[in-house]
Amino acid sequence: MTGAGLSDFGNEVTCVDIDEEKISKLEAGEVPIYEPGLDTIIERNVEHGRLRFTTDLPDSIRTARAIFIAVGTPPNEDGSADLSHVLGVAESIAEHMEGPTLVITKSTVPVGTGAKIRSILDKAGRTDASVASNPEFLREGSAIEDFQHPDRVVIGAEDEDSIQVLKQIYQALHALETPFVVTSIPSAELIKYASNAFLATKVSFINEVAALAEEVGADVQDVAKGMGLDNRIGPRFLQAGPGYGGSCFPKDTRALAEIARDAGAPFEIVETVIRVNEKVKSRMVEKVVDALGGSVADKKVGILGLSFKPDTDDMRESPSVPLLRGLLDGGAQIRAYDPEAVENAKEILENRSVEFVEDAYDVASHADAVVIVTEWNEFRALDLERLGSVMKDRLLVDLRNIYDPVQVRRKGFRIVSLGRREGDELRRERR
Ligand code: UDX
Repeated sequence: MTGAGLSDFGNEVTCVDIDEEKISKLEAGEVPIYEPGLDTIIERNVEHGRLRFTTDLPDSIRTARAIFIAVGTPPNEDGSADLSHVLGVAESIAEHMEGPTLVITKSTVPVGTGAKIRSILDKAGRTDASVASNPEFLREGSAIEDFQHPDRVVIGAEDEDSIQVLKQIYQALHALETPFVVTSIPSAELIKYASNAFLATKVSFINEVAALAEEVGADVQDVAKGMGLDNRIGPRFLQAGPGYGGSCFPKDTRALAEIARDAGAPFEIVETVIRVNEKVKSRMVEKVVDALGGSVADKKVGILGLSFKPDTDDMRESPSVPLLRGLLDGGAQIRAYDPEAVENAKEILENRSVEFVEDAYDVASHADAVVIVTEWNEFRALDLERLGSVMKDRLLVDLRNIYDPVQVRRKGFRIVSLGRREGDELRRERR
């Protein structure tokens, strides 16, 4: 994505990967991940000769003025990030570079990684190499929009030349008056973790408000609206749900907690946010079990949405996984549908017996309950009459609060949603 985006800004970009299959697919115009609009951008820039793909790392290093390291930083068992790929690339750069080279970390890397790369380059006597940090804030599913219209570009650098090279690379954003935040490398590295952890905190916070609202008879949607209109709080990332997932929030919060523990400055809020998210995910199993009268044994449960959020096929840390496992453990029979994530879901769930079907109405067939787990647009406007007509019982469990309970009840459904008591909406309607 970074490569495609930077070439679209007018830079000449070579994307390197050791995975030959991935590269030959990309060369053939096939995009190996689901990201709306990415294929068009790749096609356009390949056609204009600004973007190419290769497995030849040494040659790409020799010819590059700036090299973005965007390889994976998978979590170690203790939650810390595994830096072997990042440092491996740094070693290769040290070995093959010719002429002034700026080495930029794009991957989310622990504070101090820039310094580790610096020392690899120093050991190799590469005085014409500099190091910078340029963290990524893209969201999956809207990565292109985020890349083209970022709220800010963060540049952590050690000298003026590096700052200028990076500003040049992002020249296209100057016209949009995008703010550039220029800092030291450790600050840039920390900005990324602190931002993701703060957003995860907002999500965990509202999920706890939802649990409380159910106890005290409040409605989390109203509370979130009332809070979000305060400019100091803001309305975004206040949507209650089944817990945050994906490739960033879970990993980055755990890594930040680990970085902070290591530094002797334990990050207690983040530690709690992580625990709350686990609690939220198991609460979702209880919610479905409760909705079905205390047991899901031999109940037919339909699941709408598997990916951790809409517009992606990404199943990493998706709250659908513990939910499915919990329901299966309770003896439920599961049918599930997701517009994009089924293949990835099959891999993660391995031999657990889930029947994957073709659409929402198949999911509902003979079901005791249908559960909305991911808020894909196509689930927002279901034909409830049709859905209900094939179900055994008209019970909708809406874990994303995308339906107005009053409307759903009018169609003869029972609806259980998040952060409000079942039935309370009737009182509201009478007001
Ligand atoms: C996130 C950051 O937003 C992005 O800046 C960073 O570069 C990568 O991590 P992403 O993982 O793609 O992006 O998804 P995001 O839209 O942020 O959602 C993360 C999780 O939080 C999802 O599981 C989502 O369902 C959940 N979420 C988000 C909520 O439950 N409620 C909200 O209000 C917002």
